[in-house]
Amino acid sequence: MDHDILHYARKRHTTKAYDASKTIPDETADKLKELLRLSPSSTNLQPWHFIVASTPEGKARVAKSTEEKFPFNSPSIHNASHVVVFASKLAVSEDFFAEILDQEEKDGRFDAESDDIKTERKTGMDGARKMFFNIHQQGMKDAQHWMDKQVYLNMGQFMLGAAALGLDTTPMEGIDTAVLDEEFGLREKGFNSLAIVCVGYHDPQEDYNAALTKSRLPLSTILTEV
Ligand SMILES: Cc1cc2nc3c(=O)[nH]c(=O)nc-3n(C[C@H](O)[C@H](O)[C@H](O)COP(=O)(O)O)c2cc1C
Repeated sequence: MDHDILHYARKRHTTKAYDASKTIPDETADKLKELLRLSPSSTNLQPWHFIVASTPEGKARVAKSTEEKFPFNSPSIHNASHVVVFASKLAVSEDFFAEILDQEEKDGRFDAESDDIKTERKTGMDGARKMFFNIHQQGMKDAQHWMDKQVYLNMGQFMLGAAALGLDTTPMEGIDTAVLDEEFGLREKGFNSLAIVCVGYHDPQEDYNAALTKSRLPLSTILTEV
């Protein structure tokens, strides 16, 4: 197995056409879902929700978001094996803060030799998370944008991870997020969709982007070493 992550970073490309006859095996799909769960986020806030469409009906529902304004994106949604909708939280409640803290406790994050130390660790984490959130909520007034950024980070990890699993992906902002929100009742659930990622196996004949060389600015332009 090739563990050279650069190999996958180079191999990953925006797939322009999928082989509709190929389906991601369940075991691999489970790994993809686990990638979504394992992504880092600032203060471990995990301000996201995902909709995974793998049936023709499910994918057709997602494709409603491209039909009018972005029809060039529709075939990839129908023909990919799976499509993931990346949605971001609209607001954070006290209950949600408590839910994350409880999960961290269950996962053993605060385990300590005494109850006092455990309580101190737990209270410290809760306070730090709320402090960061409030910097964005009350100070910078960009809490929603800040949460969106966490979701995009997840998307990046997801695509590289999918490439390492031998899969092809297409990130798409060419979707009408209002249509998606409506279709899946996302706003009522406290989320809004940001983008989608199609995942599957490309059609080597039709996926013209696979044969094109990658184009990126040189390091001398984008990086400063000090
Ligand atoms: C957030 C995001 C949204 C994108 N939206 C679309 C899209 O709607 N349709 C599409 O064909 N490509 C889309 N792209 C693909 C980009 O054009 C592509 O990543 C870029 O040109 C670099 O090429 P590469 O991914 O093949 O390396 C998107 C990429 C990103 C990261």
